[in-house]
Amino acid sequence: MPAMTNRCVLLKSRPVGEPRPSDFEIVDAPVPRPGDGELLVRTIWLSLDPYMRGRMNDAKSYATPVALGGVMTGGTVGEVIESRHPGFRAGDFVLTYGGWQAFHLARAGAQPGPFGPLKLDPAAAPISTALGVLGMPGMTAYVGLYDLAQPKAGETVVVSAAAGAVGSAVGQLAKIRGCRAVGIAGPQAKCDHVVKELGFDACVSYRTGDLFAALKDACPGGIDVYFDNVGGDVLKTVLRLVNPFARVPLCGIISQYNATELPPGPNLGPVLVNRVTIRGFIVSDHVDRLPAFLADCGRWVREGRLKYREDVVPGLDSEPGAFIGLLQGKNLGKMLVQVSEDPTRR
Ligand SMILES: NC(=O)c1ccc[n+]([C@@H]2O[C@H](COP(=O)([O-])OP(=O)(O)OC[C@H]3O[C@@H](n4cnc5c(N)ncnc54)[C@H](OP(=O)(O)O)[C@@H]3O)[C@@H](O)[C@H]2O)c1
Repeated sequence: MPAMTNRCVLLKSRPVGEPRPSDFEIVDAPVPRPGDGELLVRTIWLSLDPYMRGRMNDAKSYATPVALGGVMTGGTVGEVIESRHPGFRAGDFVLTYGGWQAFHLARAGAQPGPFGPLKLDPAAAPISTALGVLGMPGMTAYVGLYDLAQPKAGETVVVSAAAGAVGSAVGQLAKIRGCRAVGIAGPQAKCDHVVKELGFDACVSYRTGDLFAALKDACPGGIDVYFDNVGGDVLKTVLRLVNPFARVPLCGIISQYNATELPPGPNLGPVLVNRVTIRGFIVSDHVDRLPAFLADCGRWVREGRLKYREDVVPGLDSEPGAFIGLLQGKNLGKMLVQVSEDPTRR
């Protein structure tokens, strides 16, 4: 048997503006050996998420940046190859935070809640969903919409990046609550997808035509909840249509992740006169909601009421390009890298 090597994607330089392939370096390293209490995990699925762009900067944030020369960070699903922890066995499938590499060590109890290591049951749901609809992005949608915005039946919920991992779940969770769900996305094909495949009531493009007029048409009763994934001009436009006491969970500002200068802020006049609540949140502050999220969303996925789509690219070597594409909106649904074979899909 040939000696196993650990292919890793390292952060080589900190990007200014859009990341480039040359900001990453792909190397082969020795496979690490697990110590007491550790698991050696073969990465099967790697999640690519917009927050990783922030980890490439050396700036103050809620999480530490990736060190130059360090392995890029990321949520992973894999198979335990060797266990030195009594709670796990070789052959178990686990959710971990292993980063952009083919093998990694995980220490049980090191990461709370949805960041593992958490044992996965392949009979309950495809293991890759632990990185998407039944993982961090799905839980972000669940907590941000149900706990922070608390939509009532009959209200209108608008969500941006509507065809992505978080946004696609937000609109469907709004429908499950009896709300009108309106998406905002870039290409028309994404708008068609969320209406025809995911059951949103409407979806408008922020790229073509007059977003204000299109949103006004799609939301005849105004907007009660705006789940903001993008910030910038889209937020500015939505704020012109909010109803009194609207709620705005501020989930992400992807329109400025590659920005080199801060854009001018939105006009907050409508926030004042409509007594709007804008609340920023980070899903990792809400791990206590993991059991409720898994129970509700697991059931809705099994019942076909919460649909999901995965956008899969093969192999670690595709990662830098796939990640750059995610920030440009090339993905439809949850962006995943298949790092190695998934034996549960044979
Ligand atoms: N607060 C938290 O705890 C938390 C947790 C998870 C995710 N998030 C945030 O939630 C947002 C969505 O994450 P995700 O994982 O679901 O990603 P995603 O929606 O699957 O992918 C990102 C999408 O953002 C859109 N986009 C890119 N640049 C844009 C721009 N300049 N203006 C408007 N839209 C743009 C693109 O869709 P189009 O082609 O439609 O433009 C792209 O497909 C991100 O901002 C992320 O940082 C926050």
